[in-house]
Amino acid sequence: MSGLREVLGIQHPILLGAFGGLSSVALTAAVSEAGGLGAYGLYGYDGARIRDTAAALREATDKPFALNIWLPTGDEAPPSAQHTIFAQALEPFYEAVGVEVPARPERYLPTLDEQLDAIWDAAPAALSVVYGVPSADVVDEAHRRGIRIIGTATTVAEAVALEDGGVDVVIASGAEAAGHRVSFLRPAEESLVGTFALVPQVVDAVSVPVVAAGGVADRRGVAAALALGASGVQVGTAFLATNESAANDSHRAAIRSTAADESVLTKAMSGRLARGARNRAVRAIEAGGMSGPFPVQNWLTGRFRAPAGEQGLGELQSLWLGQGAPLATRDTASEVFAELLAGV
Ligand SMILES: Cc1cc2nc3c(=O)[nH]c(=O)nc-3n(C[C@H](O)[C@H](O)[C@H](O)COP(=O)(O)O)c2cc1C
Repeated sequence: MSGLREVLGIQHPILLGAFGGLSSVALTAAVSEAGGLGAYGLYGYDGARIRDTAAALREATDKPFALNIWLPTGDEAPPSAQHTIFAQALEPFYEAVGVEVPARPERYLPTLDEQLDAIWDAAPAALSVVYGVPSADVVDEAHRRGIRIIGTATTVAEAVALEDGGVDVVIASGAEAAGHRVSFLRPAEESLVGTFALVPQVVDAVSVPVVAAGGVADRRGVAAALALGASGVQVGTAFLATNESAANDSHRAAIRSTAADESVLTKAMSGRLARGARNRAVRAIEAGGMSGPFPVQNWLTGRFRAPAGEQGLGELQSLWLGQGAPLATRDTASEVFAELLAGV
């Protein structure tokens, strides 16, 4: 039981990236049904929502899938008096979408225990985590239940820490990747190794299967990742652009129209470093120095991002996309999957 396919119980070494806040049951199920590992991002989901989502996934597919969470790092800012200051700084954005400046909530995020309780009940084939190494208790409990653990590394040292912590599969996530830079040993700004350099070094450093993520969007990327020693690939942006994804039209259009050299790493939208399009919201928040810490900033921008999405205002959303965005030209999950499979 050492190869990626055996460990995860999948037919093809192709993993869907989880999209915190933007995963869809349809896309997750489509990738699992095609023989890869679908994944669903549970960032911010409370126990009830996780249970509902898992039930919907089970209805859509009886194939293996992964559920994905963000591990607490301990430096998450709790709701405090400063909430109002950060909220007021974003007032023009709330006004632009016609909502009130949001009052301080009781909490910004559900607890890890609440999420894990629901995940144990959901019994996915794999639990994938970012921002750290899961505790020995979590790893043991998952394994006791037959759930594999997938960890995410942005550096060689993180990959080694994950293997030492008992994870079954390591994702080596290069700086090309869309979304948050999920570094946990050194600051994200100092953990920007590209996929091409990171993957072979991680392969040399650990003995668990390594999956390459970041910039893989077609058969050439898959072939390159496998040539570097990866056992498989994890693909985000190319799948996010498909009809089955939960991305709205402006996000899809941004993926199609953003040149490889136009995405940026920014803390503006969430308080943590993430790769996406440099739209008006990012430019204005960066210029105004308006960004609060994580997760305050993510919660606060979420209160205008959601209505902006409904109103088709791409300039006021988080348009996460990776450097491979121009390669994301296919419209359906099965087309993307077939293209990737051609590189295996
Ligand atoms: C909108 C969006 C949200 C994401 N959220 C998460 C997340 O919650 N958890 C996670 O492990 N990865 C997350 N990612 C990263 C993807 O799972 C994947 O690793 C990455 O997109 C791969 O790089 P690529 O986009 O170049 O293919 C996200 C990516 C995007 C585009």
